[in-house]
Amino acid sequence: MNKPTDLARIDHHDIDTNVSSNEQFSTVLEARLSRRSLLRGGAATAASALLGAIGLSGCGGSDNDDVTTVPNPPGGTNPPPAEKLLGFTAVSKSLADTVVVPAGYTATVLYALGDPLTASTPAFKNDGTDTDFENRAGDHHDGMEFFALSASNGPATTVNDRGVLVMNHEATTDEKLSSFFVHANGGTMSLPRPAAEVDKEMALHGLSVVEVRAASGKWSYVKDSSLNRRVHQQTDIELSGPVRGNALVVTKYSTGGTKIRGTLNNCGTGRTPWNTYLSGEENWSGYFTRASTDDAARGNDKSVTSLKRYGRDAGAASRHGWETGGSEDKYQRWNISKKGTSVDGSDDYRNEMNGMGYIVEMDAFDKSKAIKKRTALGRFAHESAVFGKPVVGQPLAVYMGDDSRNEYIYKFVSTAVWAAADATPADRVATGDKYLDSGKLYVAKFNADGTGQWIELSIANPLIAAYAGYKFADQADVLVNARLAGDAVGATKMDRPEWCSVHPGTGEIYFTLTNNSNRRVEPSGSSQAAPDAANPRVYTDMKGTSAQQGNPNGHVIRVKEGSAGSTAATFSWDVYLFGAESGADGSKVNLSGLTADQDFSSPDGLAFTPSTGICWIQTDDGAYTDVTNCMMLAGLPGQVGDGKKVSLSYPRANGSNLTVDTYVGKAATADTLKRFLVGPVGSEITGIAETPDGKALFINIQHPGEGTAAANVADPTKYTSQWPSNAGYGAGKRPRSATIVITKNDGGRIGT
Ligand code: FEO
Ligand code: CA
Ligand code: CA
Ligand code: CA
Repeated sequence: MNKPTDLARIDHHDIDTNVSSNEQFSTVLEARLSRRSLLRGGAATAASALLGAIGLSGCGGSDNDDVTTVPNPPGGTNPPPAEKLLGFTAVSKSLADTVVVPAGYTATVLYALGDPLTASTPAFKNDGTDTDFENRAGDHHDGMEFFALSASNGPATTVNDRGVLVMNHEATTDEKLSSFFVHANGGTMSLPRPAAEVDKEMALHGLSVVEVRAASGKWSYVKDSSLNRRVHQQTDIELSGPVRGNALVVTKYSTGGTKIRGTLNNCGTGRTPWNTYLSGEENWSGYFTRASTDDAARGNDKSVTSLKRYGRDAGAASRHGWETGGSEDKYQRWNISKKGTSVDGSDDYRNEMNGMGYIVEMDAFDKSKAIKKRTALGRFAHESAVFGKPVVGQPLAVYMGDDSRNEYIYKFVSTAVWAAADATPADRVATGDKYLDSGKLYVAKFNADGTGQWIELSIANPLIAAYAGYKFADQADVLVNARLAGDAVGATKMDRPEWCSVHPGTGEIYFTLTNNSNRRVEPSGSSQAAPDAANPRVYTDMKGTSAQQGNPNGHVIRVKEGSAGSTAATFSWDVYLFGAESGADGSKVNLSGLTADQDFSSPDGLAFTPSTGICWIQTDDGAYTDVTNCMMLAGLPGQVGDGKKVSLSYPRANGSNLTVDTYVGKAATADTLKRFLVGPVGSEITGIAETPDGKALFINIQHPGEGTAAANVADPTKYTSQWPSNAGYGAGKRPRSATIVITKNDGGRIGT
């Protein structure tokens, strides 16, 4: 969820706790390397070699490669027909309470909040009286992956009509503590919260696994599948990697610091080369409360610095008040005040929050296998976790963003080198242990000349070992406090890094930077940052009469690794697209020249689908929602360096100008970027997964009806959305987050 402009509501998403004084790169105007010569040199050659090696020429990797062919069907004798990527007609912006897709496509609701996941779970009444959410679909469907199923319920690569969808249930639609749509009367808006309401809300958050099938081209979910599963706030999850057993994660529940209950506020996803599911824990800190006296109770020790950097000042209230549900441990754990007398925290939950904020790995095929938090990948507000293309004999790289204003982009590089046999291992979670529990974590620094560095976050780095802002004890401390380590090494403060994905042709990594209301030409206070080359825009966008400042519309940045590939310490970068209204000033705001069929704001979800290589961009917007609901676009990007350098000039109060140079990718054309979908009122579009043949595309519609006042919960005419009931799905009129499946009426691939 994201409400950057709605000041009347609490924006749980938009916390900013980065008050470090990292260098602003607007001041680094002297380019020490010629960017063009870099691109002509080793990096470009390596990319060409990669393209050739993997034989991908038809996935948008170069400017005019947008015509490809469909494989001949089994037994077919006709020559394969030509198929044009982005052959559909772009859809218009829309404020309608419906899912709009191009002519020739059909969107069908598949799996919504509350849908039963066992044969014995009653049908969802959708009137606030439903219970047993441990056996129902959770709320706020978010990142999602499709795992095709073999006949024996193992991984398959060519099955297109049966699989499991695995997804995150990030949050719930709330107001003043209560998830009002799931309680009969809207729930309790003051403390204490009743245990029954808290139990329901805790169960709504987490993950779900649901089997889906197509029969005669019609998709449905399988209510009684033995593969269906819920992971929620009472599910045991192991801490794995360097932080396991560390003093920082000792709690009353796990005195050895080896496990925690639950995974929380899960947003972006990923899938490993060995076919497991990865989930990013994003805005978890808001679920915890801390007493106003807790700084003193902790003796103002360094844990206070850590807590503040991760968004929990003393006196912070929790989002839902779950800690007030009762005296039982499952409620008390949300109060992270130091209450006990132990030295190590084994008699309270002062360290509980250190168990949240990781990439979580789950084997969706095997419920008997432990779910693990991979602590080597660092602790922050995780979005997706995406692998660079695996190369046999080379370490694996995993790319990640930290979604808060002015936070960082990260890369993990495994110690183990990739072995081809690990693509189909006997034990997938053990394979995760091999690649994800040991390695190096890096943070990105974007230079003004279009290059960048990956800086290792190691306790051995003198900048970290001697950091005045926080005394790191060991490498586990560096990982738990990755944000502080990033501060120590001067990482670049970004405009809220959301999802990332790797272009299947070029291997370049695309990151959405959703928006940043705290970017200012002349920053005031420690939470604001000046524009720099990688985050270059500061402007005002009007939404009705309200002025939105900073970078309200966001952008998509992309990174080309140096010639060392996954282990490269340097990279080059440019901006693939700047979000903007099509009517905005082309020299200052609409730098990508977006037309009315392409304009968007606040990119969030982003993924290349393997079948076509299309880059899908999904929005979670509050800035352009006076004109259009959130949307999904399809793009065929080129590559880093295919565009031009642009200079932006900002007047300062003293009469001088601040000049910021940036690099914008080649402008999209009507053939290389098109709006594909617009969602219902109040929703964000998120999650993207496809069948191996690319003929079914699964998308999540999150929080339709957001903006409805809780006081109107009994009056459907006052809901801002009645989706999906108005699409003929399910009982009741309360809006529900849901998965939809998109198919093409002629049976073709999605996006053609
Ligand atoms: Fe949950 Fe940053 O989107
Ligand atoms: Ca506007
Ligand atoms: Ca999101
Ligand atoms: Ca977002």
